[in-house]
Amino acid sequence: MNISENHIYVIFGASGDLTRRKLVPALYSLFIRKLLPDNFALLGVSRSSVSTAEFREQMRSAINQFKEIDDVSGIEEFVRKLFYTTIQFDDVSTYSALKQELALLRSESNICGNTIFYLSTPPGLYGVIPANLAAVGLNLQDDGWKRLIIEKPFGNDLGSAMQLKESLLLDWSEDQIFRIDHYLGKETVQNLLVTRFSNGMFEPLWNRNYIHHVEITSAESIGIEKRGGYYETSGALRDMVQNHLLQVTALTAMEPPSSLEPAAIRNEILKVFQSLRPIQRKDVQHVAIRGQYLSSTIKGTVVPGYREEAGVAPDSQTETFVALKFYIDNWRWGGVPFYIRTGKRLPTRVTEIVIHFKPTPHFLFSGDKHRQSCNQLVIRIQPDEGILLKFGMKTPGSGFEVQNVNMEFHYDDLSIQRLPSAYERLIYDSIKGDATLFARTEEVLEAWKFLTPVMDVWKNGHEVPLYGYPAGTWGPDNVDDLIEDKEMTWRYPCKNLSDDGFFCEL
Ligand SMILES: NC(=O)c1ccc[n+]([C@@H]2O[C@H](COP(=O)([O-])OP(=O)(O)OC[C@H]3O[C@@H](n4cnc5c(N)ncnc54)[C@H](OP(=O)(O)O)[C@@H]3O)[C@@H](O)[C@H]2O)c1
Repeated sequence: MNISENHIYVIFGASGDLTRRKLVPALYSLFIRKLLPDNFALLGVSRSSVSTAEFREQMRSAINQFKEIDDVSGIEEFVRKLFYTTIQFDDVSTYSALKQELALLRSESNICGNTIFYLSTPPGLYGVIPANLAAVGLNLQDDGWKRLIIEKPFGNDLGSAMQLKESLLLDWSEDQIFRIDHYLGKETVQNLLVTRFSNGMFEPLWNRNYIHHVEITSAESIGIEKRGGYYETSGALRDMVQNHLLQVTALTAMEPPSSLEPAAIRNEILKVFQSLRPIQRKDVQHVAIRGQYLSSTIKGTVVPGYREEAGVAPDSQTETFVALKFYIDNWRWGGVPFYIRTGKRLPTRVTEIVIHFKPTPHFLFSGDKHRQSCNQLVIRIQPDEGILLKFGMKTPGSGFEVQNVNMEFHYDDLSIQRLPSAYERLIYDSIKGDATLFARTEEVLEAWKFLTPVMDVWKNGHEVPLYGYPAGTWGPDNVDDLIEDKEMTWRYPCKNLSDDGFFCEL
């Protein structure tokens, strides 16, 4: 990157949780790594009346609390680059003052017109703020580039996402808009591309001829914490599946891009979204399972059920767990089921992709465990990031008894480098103007389109039950029924990559 590309980073919603926990600590890491230009300023914008001095103090303690890099020697120099101003998000007249503030900051800090506007506000403002910025000319690129970064969720369904797209495109061009999906910023997610496309041994097997099914899990052990108000309007399908898990699916399933150019990679990702086999309304009950956690005792502590959480309706129908089966109708994946599941209050926090290879055509060896011995490639996104290959080995002794063994790689073993956080990577890319790891509008719309029948049936009908599951378990009892092959189950991952099963460390 040309780090001489000086710019101002404007964060809307700067008094919020995301700014404190993720954005400012990530920018600090970039600063320490000398990946920010010398002429750089961050302007925090929100409704709260806070002085620049107070904002700097808040960010100083946020960096100390949430820093992702050990070096604290640059905190004072970094916070001197931070400024704060108040705004009424929906009042266009206050944007003229913002424009003046930016002009002043530019001349004081010797920065050209390059500006990034990061929208870290409630999603209802994702249309309002860009329109108001444009009303005072802050979308114009005559004095330097202007970019918008938009947090998830991009819309709440297909209709609202299309509306948002149309309103943004009135004043901004697609190449100015960066839709963030922090999963794509994870080093381990990007490593999927390297694993697939730099290893001759995997790519020939990566198709319907050798793969039995693909399983993607993103589990959280925590509940909804204090976010009941938000979660009630979202649920697991919108919060996790529509964005993160379908993006991970696309990277797992995409064709090799012709180059590493952003357009080449994003075109292949989009093709996966376009190839998702539409789910028929009548099939929803057979391919989608929803659940909601119930009060339970975990490691001796009683935890509340979802409906007892603050901000949640006592008769809430919001799902905290989803498992979904679907197909990608193209030559590579024809007939291969994909299974994804995600949930709150599951036994452990883990995100991983499991490629289940087909069993051998004829099992030579005795014993009834041959089905379980199908090879699996586990790509662990978090925690204990790494890759695990499971294969059959002869158990020493007489006869030919086969047992599963593991061959594994842990990122921790690469002790030379730290893994940058997802936000650090994505913020850096946005500064470079590299949109590879940001979701394109069409992808987002295809994802909403794909899930619309499920959302409709869940909302309107009671033919699909909302199952309760005790907090601390792997979701509703019948979730294994989704798996086509009755001899197979979901993998039950543990904290450590190489362990699985019900009794491992969680
Ligand atoms: N937190 C996360 O880890 C996370 C992860 C992924 C995505 N996101 C997304 O990122 C965005 C920001 O997240 P966050 O957790 O920082 O949100 P937040 O703390 O709820 O809100 C950010 C700021 O927006 C302002 N705000 C809140 N409600 C408002 C309202 N009704 N009208 C106008 N302004 C309001 C508040 O500042 P003032 O009162 O000072 O104006 C608040 O500090 C959200 O859209 C969220 O969905 C967050």
